[in-house]
Amino acid sequence: MQAKHPPEATTVPSSSPTGETVLRTYGLTKHYGSRIAVHQLNLEIRRGEIVGFLGPNGAGKTTTIRMILGLITPTAGRVELFGHDLATERASILPRIGTLVESPALYLHLSARDNLRAFGDVLGGVSRQRIEEVLELVGLQARQRDRARTYSLGMKQRLAIGIALLNNPDLLILDEPANGLDPAGIVEMRDLLRQLADADKTVFLSSHFLGEVQQICARVLFFNAGKLVADKRVAELLRGQGEFVVQLEHPHEALILLQQQSWGQSARLDGAGAILTSAPNESGRELFVFLSQSGFPPESLSPAAQNLEEVFFSIIHTHEGDN
Ligand SMILES: Nc1ncnc2c1ncn2[C@@H]1O[C@H](COP(=O)(O)OP(=O)(O)OP(=O)(O)O)[C@@H](O)[C@H]1O
Ligand SMILES: [Mg+2]
Repeated sequence: MQAKHPPEATTVPSSSPTGETVLRTYGLTKHYGSRIAVHQLNLEIRRGEIVGFLGPNGAGKTTTIRMILGLITPTAGRVELFGHDLATERASILPRIGTLVESPALYLHLSARDNLRAFGDVLGGVSRQRIEEVLELVGLQARQRDRARTYSLGMKQRLAIGIALLNNPDLLILDEPANGLDPAGIVEMRDLLRQLADADKTVFLSSHFLGEVQQICARVLFFNAGKLVADKRVAELLRGQGEFVVQLEHPHEALILLQQQSWGQSARLDGAGAILTSAPNESGRELFVFLSQSGFPPESLSPAAQNLEEVFFSIIHTHEGDN
């Protein structure tokens, strides 16, 4: 048994990036023929973090996860887990990781308890007590004797995570764990993952739904067309960046003018034709005056509610020209 590391200073929240590095990738790259699925990915995830890996279909999330798990070989670059190189120390690394990649393979005719028992037998060394612990952890004690077939999607997902937790892994890697869950299921998932993070586990999960990630993760990595395009704290994103949403008569012309200002370079149109922009001295009043004096009197001007969906698409669009 490895000695457990002492906890970080108690004032540091569990999602703090000050813990030891659990996962690191160096120039991780995967080509499929001429298609570049993942390009030069440098990631760092620390102990106790819940990190979301977000990107549209085909962004390269699953490919990255497969490389991190040693399921496919990178074309270039390497993966380090717990400070050890995956390519050379795979056998000692993989038992410390629990995974759920794409849909869970459950025995639907078996109960939660029997599923855990069956998977535990394959793993070996899973005690009866551990099965009890996992049932409790994933909140399936009350339904443990019912067949998995009769479970809701959320319960099946939790059972699948329970299977991934059987060997008490330090790092949990989940590909689209909240896929198809309703809001209540997502909350249950979030509570479960937070509980794990509080117990100093690290969670890395992918999703293409920002809403999910926003609720579950403290940090989000935005991925598009095989590249990491942003690495943000959710709290930071939600706090907003002092932007304003402005409606006026000639948004395209006003946008050009705003983008020429030192404070307005990130001005853009939202989906509904309104302008999202920063303001001079972060003052809505100054923005109003500026636009009015420039011949674009706003019809309305209000602080923008930070919408992660918009942040996501603006980040993705900003980086589309990079390819
Ligand atoms: N085995 C494979 N052979 C050829 N191309 C592949 C293979 N696996 C993935 N790709 C390609 O690599 C790119 C990234 O795919 P990947 O499955 O990693 O995306 P993803 O972000 O997980 O998408 P999704 O949100 O749809 O799950 C895609 O263009 C995909 O077509
Ligand atoms: Mg995928």
